Amino acid sequence: MANVLILVGTESGNSQMVADCLQEELGRQGHAADVMDQGTAEDADFAARDVVLICCATHGQGELPDNIIPLAASLRELKPDLSHLRYGVVALGDQTYADTFCNAGRTMDALFADLGARKVGERLEIDACTQPLPDEEALEWLKEWTTQL
Ligand SMILES: Cc1cc2nc3c(=O)[nH]c(=O)nc-3n(C[C@H](O)[C@H](O)[C@H](O)COP(=O)(O)O)c2cc1C
Repeated sequence: MANVLILVGTESGNSQMVADCLQEELGRQGHAADVMDQGTAEDADFAARDVVLICCATHGQGELPDNIIPLAASLRELKPDLSHLRYGVVALGDQTYADTFCNAGRTMDALFADLGARKVGERLEIDACTQPLPDEEALEWLKEWTTQL
């Protein structure tokens, strides 16, 4: 069973709600899962984790939500070796922002890849324009994702 850290990037709570649902389901499957919505790379204690699940909305024009900026900035600055980690990405966005759809999730995806973490499965991109129930879509994705852990 994996020790999973779920990293949340949210402005208005959708990604937090999705992260909480995923945490509950991971727990039900027997994994240890914590949710972190504030803090830096040091606070995340990546050395103690096996798996990271990024759950991140996009705001502004393709930007990271404010709460996850300190984490992203500290990862860019410290460049920790994350090659022991596997990770997955659930990106929340809105396709009416055509040029920047789910850009923040893609940014976090690229950042973890750059630091040596190994991606599990495909990134899920949830469109708020057509999907009123992002938690249900994420739980469906999680079923397949956890079989690959
Ligand atoms: C001011 C604002 C700007 C946004 N900009 C983008 C964007 O550039 N790209 C995108 O895919 N979605 C964008 N969105 C849509 C959000 O990512 C989407 O509504 C998401 O579900 C919000 O999640 P949250 O409640 O966790 O913050 C924007 C939403 C708002 C309110």
